[in-house]
Amino acid sequence: MTDIVDRLARKRAAALAGGGERRVDAQHAKGKLTARERLNVLFDAGTFREWDMFVEHDCTDFGMQDNRIPGDGVVIGYGQINGRLTFAFSQDFTVLGGSLSAAHAKKICKVMDHSMRVGAPLIGLNDSGGARIQEGVASLGGYADVFQKNVLASGVVPQISLIMGPCAGGAVYSPAMTDFIFMVRDSSYMFVTGPEVVKTVTHETVTQEELGGAGTHTSKSSVADGAFNNDIEALEQARRFMSFMPQNNREPVPPVKTSDPANRLCPALDRLVPENPNLPYDIKELISAVCDEHDFFELQADFAGNIIIGLGRINGETIGFVANQPMVLAGCLDINASRKAARFVRFCDAFSIPIVTFVDVPGFLPGTDQEYGGIIKHGAKLLFAYGEATVPKITVITRKAYGGAYDVMASKHLRGDINYAWPTAEIAVMGSKGAVEIIFRADRDDPEKIEQRTEEYREKFANPFIAGSLGFIDDVIDPNATRAHLSADLSMLKNKSLENPWKKHDNIPL
Ligand code: HXC
Repeated sequence: MTDIVDRLARKRAAALAGGGERRVDAQHAKGKLTARERLNVLFDAGTFREWDMFVEHDCTDFGMQDNRIPGDGVVIGYGQINGRLTFAFSQDFTVLGGSLSAAHAKKICKVMDHSMRVGAPLIGLNDSGGARIQEGVASLGGYADVFQKNVLASGVVPQISLIMGPCAGGAVYSPAMTDFIFMVRDSSYMFVTGPEVVKTVTHETVTQEELGGAGTHTSKSSVADGAFNNDIEALEQARRFMSFMPQNNREPVPPVKTSDPANRLCPALDRLVPENPNLPYDIKELISAVCDEHDFFELQADFAGNIIIGLGRINGETIGFVANQPMVLAGCLDINASRKAARFVRFCDAFSIPIVTFVDVPGFLPGTDQEYGGIIKHGAKLLFAYGEATVPKITVITRKAYGGAYDVMASKHLRGDINYAWPTAEIAVMGSKGAVEIIFRADRDDPEKIEQRTEEYREKFANPFIAGSLGFIDDVIDPNATRAHLSADLSMLKNKSLENPWKKHDNIPL
């Protein structure tokens, strides 16, 4: 018996040592925590329970029979985050570079199966050199098994990826299929093929950072939803982020207690929209003003700044916010903004998170770049996402709602539940000047007449009343009372029931 106990202790010690002191020191020297240190920060103290600590790979090629470390480079298990059950895997870069063997993949699949079976979120802490090169196709099979489970879990339990080191090759595709990706600045990278392969194939010289660092993926590719300065900050923000998440697609997000009054007035909002309709203002001030304790978790902040997306709470309930941002491209919808918001709207709908949309949009961005890039298909994604969403949808038009973009931005016609306008709203086919130049083409060379016609057009359409008279707007509200209205309406809509026709799945214009 003592023999077994001793062996167990030795095995446990070997697993906990990971790739050994030298490699752990190297990990720390890069400013990175080890796999288990990360789990200790992510989970409520002392709650994480590890499985499969003794799993080893069975590869015997390339001398691998002498290179076995219990746990095989990934730590899996479950624990509590903010008191709620959560599953996780954490790759250990100190063990063969966190590379994925068949045994390593099986462990990830095991924790994914558990998360699906009991309906709790899964967080992946990724730090891996990709497929375990010594294992060849067995490792590719392991990746594909993980991918398949990512697909089946999508829309059932929230899947969150933290990229905390290099993620090359197969290592990027599993995160790509999860709901949100967060990276760590200067120590994490994602690429399908690294700089050396790029050099060989395309003769481009590029650094790891340029090719797949956090800056690239948060501002250029939009692969990542956010980036943080170091491991600790990333893990702490992940804990905060999880407080906005539901456990699964059948349970609402548990409300978070707030002392912020539901009917709190926000007088500053009465002065938010400038008198001059061509001047910008920061729509984030509106979002922050209506959120409980002004707490807003913005996603993709550095990409497509003309639309803002993120999560906040009203009355303690998680809400998804989508808002045109007049400070960037005058708030126009373009390809990137449409893609960004569409995916977010679909996430909210999949997990029964109500959507509040703030509208100040002069239309779709014109130009050959946009047309050649397929703005028709990409803009349709957002239209489609709003149209299929059955969660409570509340829309507030603060200023411009022109043309097709009016329709797209959660209009009444796309089954918006409550649609408000501020007194400053202008709901029209297009801006007054553009409209007059088309319908009074004959007067084009007469600036005085054009000015007069523009004024007439503005007088007729640059207000919320025609939309109101048609029932497209439920009410014109004082900006300062926006939070109070949203709060009452969200309570009213709590038991909303709306179903789409039966189908295998829809065919969103991908
Ligand atoms: C086995 C690996 C490994 C791998 C790293 N290691 N990647 N072992 N398989 N894929 C090992 C190294 O041998 C080394 O072992 C240790 O991990 C640390 O690696 P270093 O190179 O010393 O670290 P660093 O300099 O930080 O570089 C990290 C790295 C680099 C950028 C990730 O290791 C690298 O380029 N690895 C290969 C990446 C790759 O091409 N992967 C295969 C992709 S193909 P020791 O014993 O010295 O500590 C793929 C196909 C799947 O994934 C497709 C599915 C769709």
